[in-house]
Amino acid sequence: MTTPYEGDPDARVQSLLREMTVDEKLSLLAGKSLFRTKGIPRLALAPMKLSDGPRGVGFHSSLRRCTAFPTGIALGASWDPELAREFGEALALEARAVGAQVILGPAVNICRTPLNGRTFEYFTEDPELNSRLAVEVIRGIQSTGVAACVKHYAANNQETNRYRNSSQVSARALREIYLPAFEAAVREADVWSVMAAYNAVNGVAACEHKPLLHDILRQEYGFSGFVVSDWFAVRRTGSGASCLRAGLNLEMPGRGSSYRHSRLKREFAAGAFSEAELDGSLRQLLRIWLRTSPEAGHPAGRRNTPEHQQLARRMAAAGITLLRNKGGLLPLDLAGVTRLAVVGPRADKRICRPLYGGSAGVWSPYEITPLQGLRELVGDKCEIVSDPGTADAAIVFIGLGHRIGGDSEGGDRKSMQLPPEQDALVRKTVAQNANTIVVLVSGSPLEMPWADEVPAIVMAWYPGMEGGRAIADVLLGRVNPGGKLPITFPRTLADSPAHSEPRRFPGDSREVWYDEDIFVGYRHFDRYGIEPLFPFGHGLSYTTFTYGALAIQNSSWKPDDVLRLSLQLTNSGERDGSEVVQLYVGARAPSLPRPERELRAFRKVFLRAGESRTLEFDLTARALAYYCPESLRWRIDEGDYIVSIGASSRDLRLQATVSYG
Ligand code: BGC
Repeated sequence: MTTPYEGDPDARVQSLLREMTVDEKLSLLAGKSLFRTKGIPRLALAPMKLSDGPRGVGFHSSLRRCTAFPTGIALGASWDPELAREFGEALALEARAVGAQVILGPAVNICRTPLNGRTFEYFTEDPELNSRLAVEVIRGIQSTGVAACVKHYAANNQETNRYRNSSQVSARALREIYLPAFEAAVREADVWSVMAAYNAVNGVAACEHKPLLHDILRQEYGFSGFVVSDWFAVRRTGSGASCLRAGLNLEMPGRGSSYRHSRLKREFAAGAFSEAELDGSLRQLLRIWLRTSPEAGHPAGRRNTPEHQQLARRMAAAGITLLRNKGGLLPLDLAGVTRLAVVGPRADKRICRPLYGGSAGVWSPYEITPLQGLRELVGDKCEIVSDPGTADAAIVFIGLGHRIGGDSEGGDRKSMQLPPEQDALVRKTVAQNANTIVVLVSGSPLEMPWADEVPAIVMAWYPGMEGGRAIADVLLGRVNPGGKLPITFPRTLADSPAHSEPRRFPGDSREVWYDEDIFVGYRHFDRYGIEPLFPFGHGLSYTTFTYGALAIQNSSWKPDDVLRLSLQLTNSGERDGSEVVQLYVGARAPSLPRPERELRAFRKVFLRAGESRTLEFDLTARALAYYCPESLRWRIDEGDYIVSIGASSRDLRLQATVSYG
């Protein structure tokens, strides 16, 4: 007998469907247990196994130790799509090693509020950065034959009331801010699955949202894979038939609500949906199921390999963001530092543990804490002590951690503040030692009332199990930091666009209003001229970069043209290092309110000290488009546009005006 895994995939699905009874078909729409679907032994169809994995194979889906990579926001801070691709490949090999064929990631919800408990899992507040990283993570994962599952579709931007609330959001904000990464995942990376979110969107549960799942995802973007519900999200939907028609292919985890077997049988018997509709949905599901199955002859995976550990270390270092470095205190020069004080609750804290932070928790085989990483690197060249008063320099490790109410799934933060004792510790340390460095091991924006009093501040994010080594590499100058903030750090919460009124956040238990519309993150700070604590795109280096003059091929731009811009970037300092060159575009006289500037392209470039390189950016007219709220179409106004290029959204070095039309 041929198994369902041999021969042409569409033909195999077709023949499976021919042989299945209606009962068997209905049984495939809901899972069997937490991370497994049912199979059909009679037809040799093995169950499909899924695994959590925005930052490593999830503990609760594998019960095994796997490489804990840095979390999403750290990858966001790396601004490095190539690294994202390597990460995707490694992640998929780890998943394969535990028998999983679908990875529940990448997680690409926009960081709308600094308080979202899951900010640490997501990449950024910006749709362009989000899209570029998502596409490469997905390509990496799927290049190994494992399916990526981009999540959580859509407008899932807070944990408060997550099972009950509805995100009240305009079509324009959806198109311009919240959907682009999903669109890119489908159009550019051909993602094989999508997870429908817990929340409703404008009153309709995401799991039965036909305009989102069918009209936009399938019809418009061309999605051909399967949609799975977030875990237990289907509890809030109406009927099996409405979910099926909307485009939900699989309800997870087991037993089922709308897709409970007995319920589906009743609905089917009553004619609520047809066998043809059922087949259509199963076809989308089974195509990926068969293609990714371990039975299909994919090579075995690998987990916890030295290569993955090295990658985890490189990723951690690439995300570390140097926020402040007054007087060039960093990197520490051990020639002048013989006693180094290391203090603070995060200095020796292990955080790569089962379920720490929620579903993104990874149980790692080991974890190098910052203290261990420093000890390893300084060896006997420097004594590590705990009293800042007697040391040449002091490092304070602070941050939130993964308890609920901190950086964790299942709840949002109550404020943007650190625990008061941590603020007090920073002040006490700097009073004892002027050479104080604050390292934040944390996953979201924080208030730093002491920011001007401390010479050096480093954002290390949640850097994964090799994080301690990466932190030591950066602090001691083995690695020159190149991370840039993927999210604005406001001075106070009230400055943030989602926090001017309670209906915007957290909303009541039914609705949260996205009244700021498209003005999310830096788009809001620029519009109202608010000075953030640290702007979007900010991150310092131990070297300096000089931006040479901007050359534009033609300053008048016709609809089908590609606009080529080029500039010369020089590493004008003494150390090798990387720069993220950011290109923003803004309309001079827009026909409706638009952001001052929006990130439309970026390039991460590594240059040796003294080296120069010419960078080219090719822009299509899509860089000028906005989603017209009246015609519900993308439009481009004729007129002048300002292209700005620089080292952050507030450190723009080059500017040019181009006219379009
Ligand atoms: C999360 C998803 C996760 C799923 C399975 C849910 O609580 O929202 O991101 O993939 O659980 O663990």
